[in-house]
Amino acid sequence: MTNVDELLARMSPAEKAGQLTQYFYFRLPAGAEAEPALGLDVAEQPRAVEAALGRGEAGSLLFVTDPAEINRLQRLALAGNPHGIPLLFGFDVIHGLRTIFPVPIAMAASWDPEIIERGQAVAAREARAVGIHWAFAPMVDIARDPRWGRIVEGAGEDPYLGAVVAAAQVRGFQQHIIAGPKHFGGYGAALGGRDYDEVNLSDHELWNVYFPPFRAAIEAGAGNVMTAYMDLNGIPATASHWLFTEVLRDAWGFDGFVVSDANAVRNLVVHGFARDLTEAGERALTAGVDMEMAIADPAYARLPESQAAPEVIDARVRKVLEAKVRLGLFDDPYVDEERARAVLADPAHREAAREAARRSAVLLRNERDLLPLDAGSLSSIAVLGPLADSKRDTLGPWVFDFDLDETVTVLDGIRASFEGRVDYAPGIPVGQRTFPSMFDMFGGNAPADPPGFDAEAEFARAIATAAAADVAVVVVGEWQNMIGEAASRSSLELPGRQLELLQAVVATGTPTVALVMNGRPLDLRWAAANVPAILDIWYPGTQGGAAVADLLFGEVSPSGKLPFTWPRTVGQIPMISSHTISHEPDNQARRYWDEESTPLFPFGHGLSYGKFGYGELTVDRPVVGREGTVSVSVEVTNDADRAAAEVVQLYLHQRHGTASRPVRELKGFRRVVVPARSTLVVEFPIGPEHRRYWNAAVRDWVLDAAVFDVTVGGSTASFEVGPPMSEG
Ligand code: NOJ
Repeated sequence: MTNVDELLARMSPAEKAGQLTQYFYFRLPAGAEAEPALGLDVAEQPRAVEAALGRGEAGSLLFVTDPAEINRLQRLALAGNPHGIPLLFGFDVIHGLRTIFPVPIAMAASWDPEIIERGQAVAAREARAVGIHWAFAPMVDIARDPRWGRIVEGAGEDPYLGAVVAAAQVRGFQQHIIAGPKHFGGYGAALGGRDYDEVNLSDHELWNVYFPPFRAAIEAGAGNVMTAYMDLNGIPATASHWLFTEVLRDAWGFDGFVVSDANAVRNLVVHGFARDLTEAGERALTAGVDMEMAIADPAYARLPESQAAPEVIDARVRKVLEAKVRLGLFDDPYVDEERARAVLADPAHREAAREAARRSAVLLRNERDLLPLDAGSLSSIAVLGPLADSKRDTLGPWVFDFDLDETVTVLDGIRASFEGRVDYAPGIPVGQRTFPSMFDMFGGNAPADPPGFDAEAEFARAIATAAAADVAVVVVGEWQNMIGEAASRSSLELPGRQLELLQAVVATGTPTVALVMNGRPLDLRWAAANVPAILDIWYPGTQGGAAVADLLFGEVSPSGKLPFTWPRTVGQIPMISSHTISHEPDNQARRYWDEESTPLFPFGHGLSYGKFGYGELTVDRPVVGREGTVSVSVEVTNDADRAAAEVVQLYLHQRHGTASRPVRELKGFRRVVVPARSTLVVEFPIGPEHRRYWNAAVRDWVLDAAVFDVTVGGSTASFEVGPPMSEG
């Protein structure tokens, strides 16, 4: 058994600093050039890292996914380390490693902790098999501004949904590897939605909105937490003693290790906070950041000559060594490359990804039940739009180890399921991918259009194809590299000529289905009024096209619900469901002279092929003590001739108290499969944990004695309002 105290006693200051350092180890595809902003010398960087391994001065690496390479680097590390301390390998396992699941916002749209946990367990199993011990995930940042590209990586706007999703992800990951919820804290509230910009959040927003998913992730046992890049209320988050010591460790009892975001410690100098790299390292370490993630030239390498207290350094090293012991790395540092290949190829993983994509799609509109399509009565389908057959876009952002050959596009999926004629026309050039992203250096993007691509002729061909078909399926959305890190937008419009394409297709009179491939709400005002069926398929992953075909042809019913409020236009941002009010609702309706005050689709919205009705809501006790729990139940009936899943949502509204409370707050939900023509009873507890909130006036948690309205439904738009429940 490895004795951490003995190791600490034997280690030199430079070796300790090394254990606290995590290096990127990049091997880019041949010919690729690194994004200049990263300050990365592609040739030099691996040499510098291997030299650090040889000196026993690197604790962890990130960005290596090949098991043979992981074994080689582990051997180098162990040969160079006089104490036999193995390397810890971390990676951005965000929505899959080889088997790519729908993007995280899509998984959240399933409102289904079971499939979310299963998905991350699959991702973690693949990761561990290749030698990755730790995922920089889940991203549990609340996102209320869809201009921010990283909305795609989280669970959306709501703290309750965010907390349930965060816990499920941590449970899934930690079946095999360490989970690292990120980015603590408040990163999603960047000014203007501009990635990395400063964040100013009140105490009330931090505790009630932005912290709950982190707390849930910690309570679920997450072994790591990552810092955030930006300034939080004037202090760089990465140097916040309040965040990493007072809140995370002292208030929540976090026992794992904290890693900085990439180069965030060095950047303390850029912030105008630390005078130099030595001070940057000392201040981050003292704040509670155990490990520095560095692209090159780490600040923590200067810890031995800094003012950092030796006992604080030892405490941080202890955390890292304990993680390695817990993972069993001292006993078994290598991976079995043969087994890794078998795990990556496991068909059960593909099946889980297909199921996840089915459960995450959200049916936004379905006039006159255009969907599901009756395959038997159709002889031809036109599939249109460049996203319909783009393997790389189908996978979405934040994937690196994907297999394009096995990726099923929407076109592939429809062709495999439909026996009639399927005609495909992109209609507009893929070359309209005008948004260069720092992830392009990893390759995989669709190639430019072939020489001689005639945009006008191609557009006309798409319209003719639509006109000649029984049904047109148009895939619209954003190219995957338009969203993610450093991919904010100032507009939510469909890029390129996609709206024009959609309009021209609808004008042919052919019944039209729009599939939306996205990770943020887009401006669908025209579509929501003119396209009879709209299905949000997100970036659905490896099996995406197969799942989409299952949904289109009614093999399964859509059951996803929006995890964010879908605004009509970018000018309405921010717009959330759990807002407070200051005027009677009638006066709230029209406050923009040029736009409605309502969203295009509300939080929680999502239609089904089932026909759901809600019976009377009952509360078991009308009055309850401050610490008491009541039980709420409601009958959910499916009048359709087919079974379908419904996400039953419970919202609470506190009528009066020591603070103004939101018009509604999500406080429970259950995804249930309701058989054809039958009724289920769904029950929810409402306990003190659901009524407690952080009160900015007293700067503490409070439980007011108050009257509460309880509402249950399938969306925030259609509620059965129950009798009020009071707390006496
Ligand atoms: C920067 C991102 O902010 C973070 O989420 C990610 O884990 C690291 N880079 C490593 O790729």
